[in-house]
Amino acid sequence: MLIRPMRTRLVGLAMLAGLMTSFSAPAVEAAPRPDITKDLFGTLSDGTQVWRYTLTSGVLRVRIITYGGIVQRLDAPDKHGHQANVVLGFPDLAGYVEKNNPGPYFGALIGRYANRIAKGTFTLDGKTYHLPINNDPNSLHGGTKGFDTKVWNATPGRTSDEVSLRLDYTSPDGEMGYPGTLKATTTYTLRGSALRVDYQATTDKATVVNLTNHSYWNLGGEGTGGIYGNRLQLNASHYTPVDSTLIPTGQIAPVAGTPMDFRRPTAVGARIRDDFQQLAYGQGYDHNWVLDGSGFRLAARVSDPDSGRVLSISTDQPGIQFYSGNFLDGTLYGTSGHQYRQGDGLALETQHFPDSPNHPAFPSTVLRPGQTYRTATSFAFSAH
Ligand code: GLA
Repeated sequence: MLIRPMRTRLVGLAMLAGLMTSFSAPAVEAAPRPDITKDLFGTLSDGTQVWRYTLTSGVLRVRIITYGGIVQRLDAPDKHGHQANVVLGFPDLAGYVEKNNPGPYFGALIGRYANRIAKGTFTLDGKTYHLPINNDPNSLHGGTKGFDTKVWNATPGRTSDEVSLRLDYTSPDGEMGYPGTLKATTTYTLRGSALRVDYQATTDKATVVNLTNHSYWNLGGEGTGGIYGNRLQLNASHYTPVDSTLIPTGQIAPVAGTPMDFRRPTAVGARIRDDFQQLAYGQGYDHNWVLDGSGFRLAARVSDPDSGRVLSISTDQPGIQFYSGNFLDGTLYGTSGHQYRQGDGLALETQHFPDSPNHPAFPSTVLRPGQTYRTATSFAFSAH
């Protein structure tokens, strides 16, 4: 089904009513222009104000807060045109400050290094660096106070067919143990029915960088139950097996003949409890898939048969972490007040491979002065 904005439908009805009473020429309804507004989301204990930007384009509405650059809500229509919030999150700033890290990292920008670095240690140009161990025995998602906890400087933008929110954060040399002053920019752009995220970073010393967004999707609507019935397709013939601490072994293994094979659309839950050692380590899927091809290409597609919503993710990254919400244990209550249990959302984090700084054979995550780190991921929505 073609998604048609509710407003257009109402206008259609009004036009029909108008035609029934008179024969005047119906007005032509122009598509509403993409728009961006802001409101105060909350205030941190140090007095810093956190703003929430609302981006609208066509039938999509996305809400992003300056704390952690978090996608706090994303409303998209189902096959009947009914809107629902399809990302997990919290209703207020306190939720994000107190429960998101340590915790699920709902919707957040992750840096400086998305995913795990073994034992929080890596060596670059002969020097060894130590990062906070926050996921024993490893360093996860940039350390205890990663980019997901920073207040980003926001600059809204708007053209006739898109709206954007540019977020800037400068990470001081040595922050969370990483070398170099890292100037990071993330731009969310909403155009048509796709949200695009562009990441850029520069450094003044050799460092490592791996940025992503950690949204959890539930295409049936946040708080409505599990995602095991969602059909997932991953454009990947290989994945990186992990050890019991979810660090890649270094092997690049074929997915063929294993529950890791999502080359054809398959229900997330179809094989999640199979007797397959990799699935036991993280209580479900929590792995990096090695994307086929190169350049900006389709990486993943998720569809929810009940609502008809489809999410297509494209990226230029070499990998994607598919995490089936295994550690949601019922202790958190989300945006609409519902309890989040295991498998109530799934994350698809486009990325370089976990622990790359310790695996010279993996694509490099090293960024040097004079170079610019650039990557993009797009989340496109449809319903049928
Ligand atoms: C990532 C990790 C998971 C888990 C979540 C947050 O996706 O790979 O193991 O830590 O973040 O809960």
